[in-house]
Amino acid sequence: MEVIWDTSLTLGKLLYYFLNATVSKIIPKRKKNVAGEIVLITGAGSGLGRLMAIKFARLGAILVLWDINEEGNMETCRLAKEKGDVKVFVYKCDCSKRQEIYRVADQVKKEVGDVTLLINNAGIVTGKLFLDIPDEMVEKSFHVNIMSHFWIYKAFLPAMIKADHGHLVCISSAAGLFGINGLTEYSSTKFAAFGLAEALLCELKMILKSKINVTIVCPFFINTGMFAGAITKYPLLFPILEQEYVAQKILDAILDEQHYLIIPKIIWLLLIIKQLLPVSMLLTIGEYFGVDTCLNFFIEGKKANEAVTETKKQHQN
Ligand SMILES: NC(=O)c1ccc[n+]([C@@H]2O[C@H](COP(=O)([O-])OP(=O)(O)OC[C@H]3O[C@@H](n4cnc5c(N)ncnc54)[C@H](O)[C@@H]3O)[C@@H](O)[C@H]2O)c1
Repeated sequence: MEVIWDTSLTLGKLLYYFLNATVSKIIPKRKKNVAGEIVLITGAGSGLGRLMAIKFARLGAILVLWDINEEGNMETCRLAKEKGDVKVFVYKCDCSKRQEIYRVADQVKKEVGDVTLLINNAGIVTGKLFLDIPDEMVEKSFHVNIMSHFWIYKAFLPAMIKADHGHLVCISSAAGLFGINGLTEYSSTKFAAFGLAEALLCELKMILKSKINVTIVCPFFINTGMFAGAITKYPLLFPILEQEYVAQKILDAILDEQHYLIIPKIIWLLLIIKQLLPVSMLLTIGEYFGVDTCLNFFIEGKKANEAVTETKKQHQN
């Protein structure tokens, strides 16, 4: 009897959620209001972090900006304040250091309040082949790209759970869905970040029955400079994404309380294919699309920023 009741209840719920999802495709739900929410963005000193900060400023959120790069972070603060009467709090925080994260998190709680929307965005990449990556760079990538997520969630989640209100955002990557040559350390940290956020979503929803939401973001290459020099053989299918476009998509996904944002959409298809085909076929498809050569001209760090500035200048002329 219990099995029949349990199965009927589950089928009923599935039908309800299916209809709900279908209706919200036709009649979009009201967007989340983030005015007055305390939004923490790590890696806010450039790229996606900066653009998201500016977008949240326009919506009246209170901004808490973390970055190891003080100059870049101050510039983001200036740009965000241009958008109106916004409260912006800037902190230097090296997200590769657990004690520093906890110290700065305490400072934020005292000086600003409880964070209600947390965007784990800071990230680094080496772009080297596995045997060429210095051990300390592997460790550094793990500290910045995934271990920091543990410490930052731990620092801010208790207050969210207490208030039963909040939103966690994990910036993973398409490289967190597919292992990619030249990105061994990066892919592994991004898979981990995805796994952590998804497991947390399960704990929050199934165990704690919480209203706190989780959004996991997996974009393909973006023209922020992080992957400067990366090439795509078929840009019509796999374009290097514009940072402004990606930042807007992330904002929309957060405001729509979406759980997964994978862009471009064709990556969903590849995810399905990955489960169905033998590896030999997948590798052949990968070579056809130029995955083996996509990082041949990768430019590292500072040189990448110079390359982006140069490209922008060329576009302006
Ligand atoms: N650019 C892409 O192609 C791409 C694709 C998929 C996912 N992503 C992810 O998007 C996120 C944002 O990347 P982006 O493209 O804007 O690159 P970016 O290099 O412009 O931004 C990364 C930011 O993280 C900061 N940072 C680095 N180490 C830090 C540390 N130890 N402590 C605190 N801050 C630190 C940097 O100073 C920088 O401001 C990253 O997590 C990245 O992995 C990027």
